[in-house]
Parts: sequence; C-alpha cells; structure tokens
Amino acid sequence: MAGPETTNDKVPQSGAISSGSDIRRMFDKISPRYDLMNHVMTGGLDTHWRKMVAKQAARLEDRPSQRALDVATGTGDLAFAIHDAGVPEVVGLDFSTEMIAKARKKAKKRPPGVEFMVGDGMNLPFADATFDACTISFGLRNMEDYTAAIREMTRILKPGGKFVCLEMTPFRRPFLGPLFKFYFELIVPLVGGVLSGDLKAYKYLPRSVRAFPSADALADICRVAGMRDVQYQLLGFGAVAIHCGTKP
Ligand SMILES: C[S@@+](CC[C@H](N)C(=O)[O-])C[C@H]1O[C@@H](n2cnc3c(N)ncnc32)[C@H](O)[C@@H]1O
Repeated sequence: MAGPETTNDKVPQSGAISSGSDIRRMFDKISPRYDLMNHVMTGGLDTHWRKMVAKQAARLEDRPSQRALDVATGTGDLAFAIHDAGVPEVVGLDFSTEMIAKARKKAKKRPPGVEFMVGDGMNLPFADATFDACTISFGLRNMEDYTAAIREMTRILKPGGKFVCLEMTPFRRPFLGPLFKFYFELIVPLVGGVLSGDLKAYKYLPRSVRAFPSADALADICRVAGMRDVQYQLLGFGAVAIHCGTKP
C-alpha cells in the first residue's frame, strides 16, 4: 500500500463512501460472516488490538471509567472487551440493524452490563458530557465527515474523558508495500468476497483505506475536533493505528 496514491496528508472530510445508507446496507448484508472475515483477514490480531483499545478506554488520567460508548460497534466485540477491562456500563451503537442483532445475540451469553442500540454515530442520541470514554474501531473510515464525527464523540464525553480510535491507516513501508498491496488489494477482496458473498464490500475496504488520512493527519483532525493530548501508535506492521485523546 505504499506509494504516492496512498499518501493523504491533506485533511479530507470524507473518504471513499458514497452514502451512509449504502454503507448501512453493505454492513447489513455482510453481518453473518463479518466476525469470521475479521479474524481471517488479521490472523486473529483484531482481538488483541481491541483489547489494547479497551485497556486505554478503561482508565482515565485521574479515575477509572464508569461508562463507555462504543460507536459503530458492529457485532459488539470492542464493547465486550471494554466491559471485560473493568468498565461496568458499556453502550454499543451502530446504524446497521443486522450488526446490532448479532451483537445482542452475543450479549445474551454474557454477564449484564453491555447494551446495544441502533443509532447514527454522526448524531448521537445522548446529552453532552454523558460518558467517561468513547471508542470507535474500524468505523470512522466509513463515516461521511471525520471531523464532525469526532466532534460529536467529543460532545458526549465528560471533561477529562477519553477518546480511543482503532483504524486502518494508509500503509507506508517502502519494502513491505508491494507485498501488503498484493495481500490487501487482491487476496482480502477475493477471500472476503467468497466468505461473505459480497465482493463489492471487500473491494470497498482497500479503497476506503486509501482514501483515509495518514495517522499524522488523523491526529490533527482529532485536535481540530476538540481533543487534547492526542497521540497515536502504529500496529500490524504500520497498517493499523490507535489514536487517543482527552476531552479538555
Ligand atoms: C468495519 S465495521 C466495524 C465494527 C466493529 N467496531 C469492529 O471493530 O469490528 C464498521 C461499522 O460501522 C458502522 N457504521 C458506519 N457508519 C456509521 C454511522 N454513521 N453510525 C453508526 N454506525 C456506523 C457500520 O454499520 C459497521 O457496523
């Protein structure tokens, strides 16, 4: 994924998406095999990455988190990981009813404390300063306006609250680039297409990553959206980034 076409240092307001309703329909359609494809595609690393995010979301500078919101929660794995990390009350929100149905099914087999709701991440149905932590994993890339989405997540955080974002990031390793490009732009769409029955969805994936801002640019977007102490770390050979920031 290295190369000029993947470098996106400007701060775009939206990526490869056509419309929110197309995205919602796409996730409704791939929901049955979504978890399987995630684990296959990342070799199981996605579970580890979500645990890292959950650990960060569970601890604020001066206190443990009591209440967390996971936006674009999908089938709920990050919401469950946050609960397992010690946050007693977790809400997972997603606009795909099918993804939320899968999350609710999983919740039935777990201890109480995690609730799921259908809703739009661009217009969160919560009052200002409601949550100690707000997370989003592999969701921001699919949203129509990154700055507005992060601003909305900042709004519902309490002062001192933590924002943590796990997302794919345009790949920039010159030597590994061609190999990664082969895997991510050819193998992933093929395997994803076969497993999910939706080739289009898994062709959208590399396109949406290419259109996404670099990790530095995303850190700037977080600052513009109102976060302080923004930092990020790269994982997965530089294909994935965890950004975190604090609401002033
Ligand atoms: C790639 S999945 C990520 C799911 C989950 N967070 C994970 O880590 O596996 C992206 C999710 O974002 C959701 N999504 C995209 N835009 C959204 C929006 N505006 N509001 C709520 N959910 C959204 C999709 O429905 C989908 O479930």
